Parts: sequence; C-alpha cells; structure tokens
Amino acid sequence: MGYFNAMAEFRIKLSAPDIADDDIEEVVGVLRSGWLSLGPKVIEFEQAFANYLGVKHAIACNSGTSALHMMMLTAGIGPGDEVITSPFSFIASANCIEMVGAKPVFVDIDELSLNMDPALVEKAITPRTKAVLGVHIFGLSAENDKLKAICERHKLVYLEDACEALGATQNGRKAGDGRHGIAAAWGFYPNKQMTTGEGGMVTTNDEAFATSIRKLRNQGRNLSAAWLEHDVVGYNFRLDEMSAALGLAQLRRIDDMLAKRERVAHAYNERLWPLREHLKPLPEVMGHRRSWFVYSIMLKRHIDRDKVAAKLAEWGVQVGKYFSPPIHLQTCYRKKYGYKEGAFPVTEDIAHRSIALPFHTKLPEKDIDNVCECLHDAIKAMMK
Ligand SMILES: Cc1ncc(COP(=O)(O)O)c(C=O)c1O
Repeated sequence: MGYFNAMAEFRIKLSAPDIADDDIEEVVGVLRSGWLSLGPKVIEFEQAFANYLGVKHAIACNSGTSALHMMMLTAGIGPGDEVITSPFSFIASANCIEMVGAKPVFVDIDELSLNMDPALVEKAITPRTKAVLGVHIFGLSAENDKLKAICERHKLVYLEDACEALGATQNGRKAGDGRHGIAAAWGFYPNKQMTTGEGGMVTTNDEAFATSIRKLRNQGRNLSAAWLEHDVVGYNFRLDEMSAALGLAQLRRIDDMLAKRERVAHAYNERLWPLREHLKPLPEVMGHRRSWFVYSIMLKRHIDRDKVAAKLAEWGVQVGKYFSPPIHLQTCYRKKYGYKEGAFPVTEDIAHRSIALPFHTKLPEKDIDNVCECLHDAIKAMMK
C-alpha cells in the first residue's frame, strides 16, 4: 500500500509505459472478440518477436521470471547443480536457479560494463557447475562470445537473461538471438523498453528446447495429444490475449521507442557533463550498442548516495537504487549462504553508488532539466 501511495506523490516519475492509441485499440479489439486466452494474438506476437530478433522460436509466457524458470528446467538444472550468474542484477536472475533446487554461484562484475567478468566466470567453475546465466544488465549485452566459448570448453549450458536488453547489440549482433545462449529470457514489465503489463518470452533456435518450453508453460500438455493429456509436470505460465495484443502493438514501434529512450539518455548526458567531478553516467563500451533500459548514474565516492537520493525524493523526483542491495546481500541469500559485505567488491561498490533517474520515452525536456537541477542542488548542498 505504502508503495502505491509513494508512487502517487512524485512530481517526476521514475518510469512510465509508452501507451499509444493503437495499443489501446489492439487490446480493446481482443476484449470485443471474446477470445481472451490461447488465441491468435499470442501466436502473432511470438512470430513478430522471433522475426525482430532473427531467431527461430519465441514462446510467450506471463513474466521474465517464469521464462527464466522454464529455461532452467529445460536445461536440466536441478538439485546438486551450480549455475554461475551475476550478483549485480534483479533478484530473479538468481531465484530461477533456486526454484529448481540448484545453487546460484555469483562472480563479480567488470566495473565498466557492469556485467560478469568472464575471467572470474571461468575461475568459479567446479565439477558441479552445469550452466552459466549471462545477464545483459542495464541494456548492455554480456560478453556473449567469451561466455559461450567458456561454456563450450567446459561443456556447460550457456543461457541468457535478456530481460533488460531488447535491441542491445554487440558487434552488430542482437543479444538473445539464439546464436550464443541456447535460449534467452525476456521480460515486459511496464518499466521495460516495451511492455505487455506483465509478460515474458523465451527465444531459442533449438527445436527441442522450444517444445519443452511450450509444454511447461501450459501445464505440461503434450502438444500433439488431446487437451487433457499431460506428459510432464508443468505450470500455468501462459500469456493472455490482451497482453499479447499490447505486446504486438508495442513491438511495431520498438525501434522508435528505443530511439526516443536513447535521445533522453543523451540529453541527460549533456546536462550532467558539468557535474562530472561528482558523478559518472553509464559508459559507452566498445563494440556494444546499449538498449537504454534505465538511466543510472554512479556517484563518485565523496558523495553520499543515500542522502542525494533522499533529497531528490523530498523534491518530488522519484529515483531507484539499482541494484542495492545486490543479490548476495539480500536477506534470503545472506541467510541461506552466509554472504557478508566484501564478498563481491566491485558489485557492492557500484550498488552503493548508483542512482537511477526518471527515464522513459515521454520524459519532457523541462523534467530532464529539473531532475538535473535537483541533482546539482543536492550535490552542492552536501559539499558545503
Ligand atoms: C535482469 C532481469 N531478470 C529478470 C527479470 C524478471 O522479469 P519479470 O519482472 O517480468 O518477472 C527482470 C525484471 O525486472 C530483470 O530486470
């Protein structure tokens, strides 16, 4: 309840979905049709998504988390196995491993890309390691070539958490296009580059992998048999038709929406240049094109992030502290594995200094100016 009240109080919101009249028409069209689940819109959305990425199979589901969960099951991960992943991510990147009874093994991140350091990934491999889950954080592709090569060398499965990275490229190739990880998970929560409300997708070039995901999301039903025949224990992770229709309409505008996000990011970069001795925006990384998911800045060490964040909130600017605490320092992971501060120094340092500023396609120039002025005033007040 408190969360929703807090949302209402901010003058400038952290994120907002980009909903156009066509999106509304698509959803209303489904409602008028009376066909609300297991209908044509999911299939159309899946085909359009697969085309966008240039991948053979796209299977829609009801969240990025369920996409990750089904990927773990399909990759055969289970009790006794270890999966290497990033502690600097949304908690679902580790929870999906716990959900199948396996152990997430974290490795620290590279301070420029904020993605897992491939050298540390290789060092963390044990006889129990079964897979690596690369996370494309803040819309920047993980080192897919290196992670895939490590997995091939050690006979591990490479999987991608692409929930934050629709449209991201490395060396001109889209993250999650099925040529690195055997499969990738996508999420469409309303703060993402495109939304279905709640929703997710698994993409893969592997026919058997796709078949398994299709079964798991629909109660383990045998795809060719009669309706009530189930050959594995599955879930209800289906995406409904209204959400799929919204996804389809959003996907038609994805390039335009990504370009708008990039423009907002560049506008922030310009305005924050005078504050460069106090903060650093997300960097450009050679060979990468970021798909702008959040606009996060890293405050330099002489600035108290929590005080700046509190000031901005007091002035009506909603901010996020991504990802603070990082996953290994969340209560549930501390309790289970005994993690303490200092386990992953780069992750902890970045988590401690980051603030995500209001960021979405429709953020007006005057709000960008205002956020930057507030940030300037908050920092200057602290320097006195
Ligand atoms: C990196 C990452 N993984 C997984 C998820 C989970 O997606 P969802 O919220 O759709 O379950 C998110 C969403 O916030 C995410 O950012």
